[in-house]
Amino acid sequence: MLAVSANILFVTSSAAETFRAAFGADPAGYSRGPGRANLIGEHTDYNHGFVLPFAIDREIVAAFAPRTDRTIRLATALEPGFLTADLDHLEPGDSWAAYPLGVVWALAEFGVDLATVTGFDLAVSSTVPVGAGLSSSAALETATLMALTRLWGLSLDRPTMARVGQRAENVVVGAPTGVMDQFASLLGAQDAAVFLDCRSLDHEVVPLGLDAAGLAVLVIDTHVKHAHATGGYGQRRRECEQGASLLGVASLREVTLPQLEDARDALGDVVYRRVRHIVTENQRVLDTVSTLRADGPLAIGELLRASHASMRDDFEISVPELDLAVDVACASGAVGARMTGGGFGGSAIALVPVGQADVIAAQVSAAFGAAGYAAPSTFVVHPVAGAELVG
Ligand code: GLA
Repeated sequence: MLAVSANILFVTSSAAETFRAAFGADPAGYSRGPGRANLIGEHTDYNHGFVLPFAIDREIVAAFAPRTDRTIRLATALEPGFLTADLDHLEPGDSWAAYPLGVVWALAEFGVDLATVTGFDLAVSSTVPVGAGLSSSAALETATLMALTRLWGLSLDRPTMARVGQRAENVVVGAPTGVMDQFASLLGAQDAAVFLDCRSLDHEVVPLGLDAAGLAVLVIDTHVKHAHATGGYGQRRRECEQGASLLGVASLREVTLPQLEDARDALGDVVYRRVRHIVTENQRVLDTVSTLRADGPLAIGELLRASHASMRDDFEISVPELDLAVDVACASGAVGARMTGGGFGGSAIALVPVGQADVIAAQVSAAFGAAGYAAPSTFVVHPVAGAELVG
């Protein structure tokens, strides 16, 4: 077993128990796929822009073993029994199994000959809250991909694996998402974020220096549920495409602020503000990377707050619970805070002095109570290494 945290040992033993209970045998191996939080760069990925997410120590562990036939059996710690699929007639369906089966399906598009592989048993256990905007879906995809790397002897590089996960999500699950989540889950590193150019897929690990600065990332899960396969996420994507088409560019990555101002009347108020979010957010990602390098994480608070304001006012993907979480965290001593992920619910992150995390979390919870909102979940996450085989 590698040197791993108590958290991962717990999830691994839960995955092993789930495997034994479902399949009556011991697993042959384990893989882990972390969830992610995005430090900054929201809705920029599918606009070919910049993002700066990190893998978190909330993760999914898959326990797995090969089979000699063409059957796939999938179990989760959340339900007794298992689901069965057939490699000769893949029907991913619309349960949680659509993610691992979607990955199998998408691998065929990336050159894996499914006629030559055998089935497998796989059981998962998770500490990534579902619907919290922390990419439990990417965690499931990357844990599956790592398991298949071992089971089928795959040698795909990580950026390609990220595209496989995205393809599964876009086509099989039907969520029109970008490539950020899978990249973070696969390429994360300890105390660091992944700076990704979503046009070229060039990427770089950028040290966050949280430990040295005495900072922690506090997650505030509002429990307001979002679903990216339906609703506002797709609408925002269409508005961005409309903006690009009106501006005559292939993607909003190419747009500058002066260009945008010139086209203000032609775009109309809503599309103008959607595009302004993307253009300014791309710049904020670049500024965050240079500020982290020059001055460290204590200096990025204003960029995080400006990003949240842009999502609230221009892109209109925040909800009152997220705004309250951000405002109260900042007023209670956070260096900065913003909603993270696709929006319309989910979580905010706050960059807080380690010793003040509990007090800030309590202030946010009290403010939620006073506003009549359901109590949020609050917990600290650490940036960790990307998906891997464990043990
Ligand atoms: C979701 C999607 C990502 C990205 C974010 C918003 O997490 O899965 O691809 O678009 O929303 O930044």
